[in-house]
Amino acid sequence: MTQNRRLQTNRPTILGSIIIATALVAGCTGTGGGSAGASGGGGGDYPSRAVTFVVPFAAGGPTDTVTRLVAEPMGTALGQQIVVQNVAGAGGTLAAGQVASGAPDGYTVLMHHIGMSTAPTLYNDLAFDPLEDFAPIGLVTEVPMTIIGAADFEPTTLEELVAYVQENGEDVTYANAGIGAASHLCGLLIQNAFDAKVTEVPYDGTAPAMTDLVGGQVDFMCDQTTNTTEQIKTGAVKAYAVTTPERNDALPDVPTATEAGVEGLDVTVWHGLYVPAGTPDGVVQRLSDELKAALKDATVIERFGALGTTPVAEDQATPAAHREKLQSQIDLWKPIIEEAGVSAG
Ligand code: MLT
Repeated sequence: MTQNRRLQTNRPTILGSIIIATALVAGCTGTGGGSAGASGGGGGDYPSRAVTFVVPFAAGGPTDTVTRLVAEPMGTALGQQIVVQNVAGAGGTLAAGQVASGAPDGYTVLMHHIGMSTAPTLYNDLAFDPLEDFAPIGLVTEVPMTIIGAADFEPTTLEELVAYVQENGEDVTYANAGIGAASHLCGLLIQNAFDAKVTEVPYDGTAPAMTDLVGGQVDFMCDQTTNTTEQIKTGAVKAYAVTTPERNDALPDVPTATEAGVEGLDVTVWHGLYVPAGTPDGVVQRLSDELKAALKDATVIERFGALGTTPVAEDQATPAAHREKLQSQIDLWKPIIEEAGVSAG
């Protein structure tokens, strides 16, 4: 009956800090002006050297993909190289803690997602306060998720997956990117909607998780379309549903969870850029201006579309809109997480 793949995974440790990849993303030159979390003063000659974009998950995953796509035009506009550094671990909180305690000078920028809003409720001894220790720069995109399974995994529809999980419970393995990651949160919603528990297998990101899923070492996962669309299109994995009210243009044959008969699986993964609190207003405004411009870049729009997402609207790529989103998401997820009784300790 069940294949019990649990023990064959080649997953790395979670809580260690790992600098996985450093890559140069092109560059070129521009000015600016203010936002909460930032300190007064202009951008002066910012940037006068390379800027680092920190990604809190493994290279090649959805957050890494989004970061590298916007970093390209932003580097060109800023006139400096952008170095993408992957610092994986603890569901993204390791990288966030490092950036929060970094120099507030605009040379270290964090790309993070919904995980920034869940960390305060999940982690008792969090090394940072998302609202106090960061200056938000602007939102980037809101990525739909997909529920997918290994190609040889028995269930072929979402309905069959529900029945299979209800019957086999913790013999079923579910991959995620650590406590507080989007794939973990979706996993909470899935177990709630299926009214059954599975065995969660944590990774440093959904890129390594996808490798094991394609290899059949784990049974299923919920992950962002920016990481799943191509695998679904090639048949390397099965697709059960998308977690949005409408079907996804990049995956027209994949039903919504509601269409497939399961309510309560409505989640998308918002992403935004951050610098440490105290970064000069002018620097924050410059980064926000270049982010806005990057989100209008034809290549960014085309690549986002091919991967099932879109840039946010211009008025969302601002410090104020980003801070509002962060606050509202912290308030949204707190009761859900507390009710689920989940914590990272
Ligand atoms: C990643 O980039 O690996 C993901 O964003 C992880 C996740 O949050 O599920």
